[in-house]
Amino acid sequence: MGGGVAEVTARSGLATVVREVSPEAAERSRSGIERSLGRALDRGKIDEATHQAILDNLTFTTELSDLSDCDLVVEAVIESFDLKAEIFAELDAIVTSPDAILATNTSSIPIIDIAMATDRPDHVVGLHFFNPAPVMALVEVIPSVRTDPSVTEQVTAFATDVLGKTVVAAKDRAGFVVNMLLVPYLLGAMRMFEDGHATAEDIDTGMTLGAGHPMGPLTLSDLIGLDTMLLVGETLQAEYGDPAYAPPALLRRMVAGGHLGRKTGRGFYDYS
Ligand code: CAA
Repeated sequence: MGGGVAEVTARSGLATVVREVSPEAAERSRSGIERSLGRALDRGKIDEATHQAILDNLTFTTELSDLSDCDLVVEAVIESFDLKAEIFAELDAIVTSPDAILATNTSSIPIIDIAMATDRPDHVVGLHFFNPAPVMALVEVIPSVRTDPSVTEQVTAFATDVLGKTVVAAKDRAGFVVNMLLVPYLLGAMRMFEDGHATAEDIDTGMTLGAGHPMGPLTLSDLIGLDTMLLVGETLQAEYGDPAYAPPALLRRMVAGGHLGRKTGRGFYDYS
């Protein structure tokens, strides 16, 4: 997700610093963006000069302190509250401008909980992209009870006018708008597969050809990442207590076994 968001901002002409946890992760991020831009170049969506200009907008680093001058930081680490809180506390100390906005791409963790890890909760907001970020037209903007309304206005204008996305405004409730509806559907498909209702292929074909979805639910879960699906399901279930959000045992076993979807080459399908 982080690489996808960085591609979006770089394509919008913004100097973008990508912070990854290791040189290897930074290299994966860079090559993912280069692959995506290479496809756009091959398909004639961008010309050579634009391709180069987008690459020039990107800097990769492993140091969080390299984000000190940023006007907007979009955090996209895994769905762990403890990790996000730690990172926001560090960002609070590092990012120098008092007007800078600290945004989280969380799918489900309350924005207020993340905001309270900083001394500037009025400048913390949810800015939720969808996978693959360069393609998906939607962004959810989620203010917490402490977000300054002018910050919400600024990120909404930024997402629409600068990034060219469509914004939906969501309340700070787990799952916001899209995941509250999407996640029980995806988990339901996993339960059907787990119970032997139908093969993975037939469940996915049913929803692509029978309901006009661009991807079936198991293919989409593999794209999102099964570790993310598990964490989001757990957070939603903790908030609403609805069994529709309970991650099925199969999902837990797959995550425990390292079958995380496309990113590890194996999920409901084999991508090796
Ligand atoms: N990065 C950048 N560009 C990509 C891409 C990627 N990972 N994957 C596809 N694309 C681009 C292609 O280059 C192509 O671009 P052009 O039209 O400009 O040539 C375009 O997307 C269409 O790609 P394809 O023709 O290869 O494939 P497709 O028509 O099947 O579309 C898809 C691919 C856009 C991913 C489509 O299948 C789709 O919309 N799937 C559903 C995705 C979805 O529901 N995402 C939301 C997940 S939920 C989430 O992310 C939130 C959360 O918190 C969990």
